[in-house]
Amino acid sequence: MAGAVRGSLNGKVALITGASSGIGASTARLFARLGARLALTGRNEANLRKVGKECEREGGKKPILLTGDLTIDADTERVFKGAVDGYQGQLDILVNNAGIIALGGIQKATLQQYDKIMNTNVRSMFHMTQLAVPYLIQTKGNIVNVSSINGLRAFAGVLTYSISKHAIDAFTRCVALDLADKKVRVNCVNPGVTHTELHKRAGLNEKEYEAYLKRARFTHALGRYGEPEEVADCIAFLVSDQASFITGACIPVDGGRHALCPSSLSREEGGVSAMAQQSSDV
Ligand SMILES: NC(=O)c1ccc[n+]([C@@H]2O[C@H](COP(=O)([O-])OP(=O)(O)OC[C@H]3O[C@@H](n4cnc5c(N)ncnc54)[C@H](OP(=O)(O)O)[C@@H]3O)[C@@H](O)[C@H]2O)c1
Repeated sequence: MAGAVRGSLNGKVALITGASSGIGASTARLFARLGARLALTGRNEANLRKVGKECEREGGKKPILLTGDLTIDADTERVFKGAVDGYQGQLDILVNNAGIIALGGIQKATLQQYDKIMNTNVRSMFHMTQLAVPYLIQTKGNIVNVSSINGLRAFAGVLTYSISKHAIDAFTRCVALDLADKKVRVNCVNPGVTHTELHKRAGLNEKEYEAYLKRARFTHALGRYGEPEEVADCIAFLVSDQASFITGACIPVDGGRHALCPSSLSREEGGVSAMAQQSSDV
């Protein structure tokens, strides 16, 4: 991958939210290997410390670790201040990755769920980005938001999450235009099913999660689910100078899931039932 050359992020300071698990943790380890100085956020202190140690082993630099709940404004402000103060006001890269998913369509989802999902996935991203923009203008830096295939396509049974991810795609394109004259690039990645803690935290047990991952054979054109490292690779490309002419882009990292249409699924034995299953995807 063109951008992922050891040392390619030397001298850059990157703030990654949700770095204590999954895609954020993989991105942190990769950025460390590429030479970035890191500020990592999460709620789970033990997990964040573990990722911090792994980053130090990868890149030889100790990341700044900042715990906080990004749905609480004061936490977001404290975390952000900790990051910029720790690197004397330098910030080159913001990866807005922290997020949660919840199950339920229009008949099941509650207003409480709507608020929780939107506050976590969208409002905190809006807040963190507003705090970061003055610093990113100074460095002509860039932002990558972690959206989802749910931002690009419609699925039944996962309404509030899908609304939040559509909002992130719109946010990405609008902020890219707002900041283009300042030479700050803003992009997002739209992962398909990726092997992390996300779905189990939303209530799937081990067996259900295993079945969900297995179905990726049919729901993703490449016939499998993705690994968080594959999303991290795309993020590393987008933040690199190799992506210097890319802004406002929403890039699927989804094994071709966004390109599928119902007829593409007919190759599956019992394709119709798979569609029905797909429509209750989380
Ligand atoms: N996995 C997938 O299939 C998939 C597909 C498409 C998009 N995505 C997106 O990828 C992003 C990362 O998810 P993941 O799959 O890596 O899931 P994950 O393993 O559950 O990690 C989620 C991260 O977000 C943090 N987080 C959640 N709520 C937070 C809050 N209120 N305040 C601060 N941090 C918070 C978590 O912190 P703690 O663990 O410390 O609480 C954790 O570090 C999300 O935006 C998700 O929507 C995932």
